[in-house]
Amino acid sequence: MSTHQYQSKDPKHNMLLKLYSTSILVLDILLLFLKIVYSLLEGLFRTIVPLAEKSVEGEIVLVTGAGHGIGKELALQLAQLGATVVCWDINADNNEHTCRELARMGFRARAFACDVSNREQVMEVAKRVRTEVGEVTVVVNNAGIMPCHPFLQHRPEEIRRIFDINVMAHFWVLEAFLPAMVERNSGHVVALSSMAGVMGIPNLVPYCASKYAVRGLMEACAEELREHPRQPDVRFTTVCPFIVDTGLCKKPRTRFPNLLAFVPPKKAAREIIHAMRTNQQEVSIPKGLINLNHFLRLFPAKANQLIKDFMDSGVESID
Ligand SMILES: NC(=O)c1ccc[n+]([C@@H]2O[C@H](COP(=O)([O-])OP(=O)(O)OC[C@H]3O[C@@H](n4cnc5c(N)ncnc54)[C@H](O)[C@@H]3O)[C@@H](O)[C@H]2O)c1
Repeated sequence: MSTHQYQSKDPKHNMLLKLYSTSILVLDILLLFLKIVYSLLEGLFRTIVPLAEKSVEGEIVLVTGAGHGIGKELALQLAQLGATVVCWDINADNNEHTCRELARMGFRARAFACDVSNREQVMEVAKRVRTEVGEVTVVVNNAGIMPCHPFLQHRPEEIRRIFDINVMAHFWVLEAFLPAMVERNSGHVVALSSMAGVMGIPNLVPYCASKYAVRGLMEACAEELREHPRQPDVRFTTVCPFIVDTGLCKKPRTRFPNLLAFVPPKKAAREIIHAMRTNQQEVSIPKGLINLNHFLRLFPAKANQLIKDFMDSGVESID
């Protein structure tokens, strides 16, 4: 029985109980405070002496959207680090091309055509991967689309498609591979969100909503596994790039290209892999942009709008 529930008829006894539960609470708060200070010091230490990168050699890494852009670069770099790369893309030709390039260099890669927005297809292709390649140990949910126009010009089917590819696909891929990771007590899930999943951007309303959803999905999954009775060692890394030079973002705009540069896909892939290999939970590309955004949110909304107007960065509408 807890001290809160227990009530004695003796007032002296009740007072002692109250004193006891108050002391427990004070000790709990003190312990929490010490743990917070320790984690702050640990964080500070880790910014000076970064964690050693874990190896991906021998891992079976699934990259969705591996036929082009960031996904293609991720596949190339992960294979060079010794992983067996399983490439998924709706565009079979591009996907095959990525794998042929890897095979020519002597690396291990397998291409599977898959529309990640189609749950049945994801389950079916996952089964083939399991029998033909092996159990996937790292998932990179990368495939995505980015139609750009004012909110009221988005057709309903387009909004559904954005959510089917940018959000629902993550659910289907996790449904296919997360249970085995939990069972095996190891694994890593990487997801491509965006800075558009951290701040609202004109001409990208459904895209922004989909990328906010990815962050919610990833954070909630990580929390759920942290509270899992076995606390399986499955890690989650969410990546929020600003603009990567892949052609996905057709008409980007930045007032200060030196400060907010368009990142080449090679560099973006390198940073994503580093974030994964050092078990970081959430990172932006460029680094620090997401923390700057969190900090600026402490300011009044008006101040944030003034800063956004001054930076004048965004995405133009495409007809
Ligand atoms: N490029 C950027 O500026 C930028 C910025 C922030 C976030 N991101 C995110 O990074 C990810 C990759 O972007 P990118 O720039 O490399 O895009 P990209 O267009 O260069 O490549 C995306 C790949 O995904 C594939 N794909 C699309 N729909 C698919 C589907 N239904 N099933 C399987 N594959 C599908 C495409 O065929 C393509 O090969 C996306 O999730 C995107 O939202 C990109």
